[in-house]
Amino acid sequence: MAHHQNSRPQRLARWVALGVLVAAAGLAHAQGNNVASVIARNQCAVCHGEQGESTNAQFPQLAGQNAQYLRKQLEDFRAGTRKYDAMNAIARELTDAQIQALGAYYEVQKPAQHPSDDALLVGVGRYIYERGNIYTKVPACVSCHSASGQGSARLPRLAGQHPQYVENQLRRFHAKERRNDSGAMAFVTEGLSELELRAVAAYVGGMGASAANPRGRP
Ligand code: HEC
Ligand code: HEC
Repeated sequence: MAHHQNSRPQRLARWVALGVLVAAAGLAHAQGNNVASVIARNQCAVCHGEQGESTNAQFPQLAGQNAQYLRKQLEDFRAGTRKYDAMNAIARELTDAQIQALGAYYEVQKPAQHPSDDALLVGVGRYIYERGNIYTKVPACVSCHSASGQGSARLPRLAGQHPQYVENQLRRFHAKERRNDSGAMAFVTEGLSELELRAVAAYVGGMGASAANPRGRP
């Protein structure tokens, strides 16, 4: 009996302590989210849209992009190892905690798709994505970016990305203006023709869309 009487308040104390911890963790998470949504609205929305769904095809869609990939890109812009004047200036003002919070914020936003209505061009793009071009030594995109193109900590989500932005990046990698990927994409784009470049960009823009929901919007 005495044993039970002692353990009850102890158990209670443990639950209270656990409750405080859980509440604190929840608060930290909520604060991270708030910080990120305020920054996203005030400093990023003008180009990337409030939920990372930029309407201008020159600006990458950030919605649904992998949090760790986003973090690496922002760190690279901040360090200047990825160059784009506007983004270099913006990233230099961000702290580590803000960068982390922004990555987490955009990752959970719903990405849109940007399909092309040129089915033949998309077909060429799909061939390149899945098989590459053995005659000009273009590796298949699928070997790194996976069939779904959903992205991972080390690889960007390509599914649904604006084709114009994808084309821009492929050209930058080819010209070695963007080199923050340790050279993989310079090698990939070496033998890529103009048609293949445009086609594969058109294909990835529509990845993730289904016939029932062609624009892929939830
Ligand atoms: C003036 C317009 C502008 C603003 C404001 C802006 N960006 Fe960007 N952002 C761009 C452009 C343009 C690029 C593509 C640069 C390139 O071509 O390499 C980019 C690229 C990025 C990328 C790389 C995405 C990828 O797929 O690799 C991230 C991440 C990013 N921006 C995050 C942010 C965040 C977070 C903010 C706010 C703190 C922000 N940007 C504000 C224009 C902007
Ligand atoms: C050997 C592995 C590999 C192959 C094959 C590959 N990629 Fe990549 N790709 C990468 C890596 C690594 C990155 C960049 C990671 C980083 O910046 O940190 C990247 C980045 C990209 C980006 C930039 C996305 C963004 O949000 O800025 C595009 C676009 C891209 N790849 C398209 C393609 C296409 C199209 C193909 C096929 C023709 C392809 N990749 C084949 C490894 C690969």
